[in-house]
Amino acid sequence: MAKGIFITATDTGVGKTVIAAGLAMVLKAKGMKVGVMKPIATGCSGDNPKRLISMDAVYLFEAAENEYARLTSPVRFRNPIAPSVASVYEQKEIDLDYVRRAYEELQKHYDFVIIEGIGGILVPIKKNYLVANMIREMGLPIVIVSHASLGAINHTLLTVDAALMRGFVIRGIIFNRAPIVNYSLAEMTNPRVIHDLTGLPILGSLPELESVDVERCEFGNLKEMFEDRINVNEILK
Ligand SMILES: Nc1ncnc2c1ncn2[C@@H]1O[C@H](COP(=O)(O)OP(=O)(O)O)[C@@H](O)[C@H]1O
Ligand SMILES: [Mg+2]
Repeated sequence: MAKGIFITATDTGVGKTVIAAGLAMVLKAKGMKVGVMKPIATGCSGDNPKRLISMDAVYLFEAAENEYARLTSPVRFRNPIAPSVASVYEQKEIDLDYVRRAYEELQKHYDFVIIEGIGGILVPIKKNYLVANMIREMGLPIVIVSHASLGAINHTLLTVDAALMRGFVIRGIIFNRAPIVNYSLAEMTNPRVIHDLTGLPILGSLPELESVDVERCEFGNLKEMFEDRINVNEILK
């Protein structure tokens, strides 16, 4: 079985890229050779359709100081929309074999791979092929990134159910942008409630961090905060 982790989330915009990058930096600091990948990226920028830029991929690539950009970001689309839909709008087939080969090559170059998902686990990639199918093929355990505010219980439990139904191994849940001061009642109680209802490890919470910005490729003190607040050993178990 491949050594690595698939980072998914309860929704898009919750913090998969930031969490995946933070993990890459911490593992690298431990001396591990870490490869990163955003198998399919949508919402990319750039004038040349053949050279679209995924800021998610750039962020991961820089965090992990990787060497092979084409392995980090094999498939890119301009529209910020589910891959299956972007593929139709941009008239570009998603070549899953190309993604598979990139993934295999990434594994050859690195000891541990961190794969960032696309949206949540039921996002469609192709006909009859969701992100969940990709997770199964990759054979990786998952980490679920969630928010901690009102609604998190339902969002997190839906994702946990969908993952368990498919037999995925869930290493735990990370709460992102969870305030550590001035929190709401929901933010204060949700992690505990979610732990009690799922029995899953809560790997920790990251607050809103200054100077952390995927779009500007800024890392601020992400590495230090991740080291302090997230249970990395549980992820590596
Ligand atoms: N802990 C954080 N502190 C500050 N900004 C954050 C934090 N987590 C995420 N962001 C910002 O929120 C946005 C969404 O996060 P991102 O990691 O890109 O989510 P996802 O990959 O799940 O779509 C990005 O602009 C990112 O810079
Ligand atoms: Mg992302």
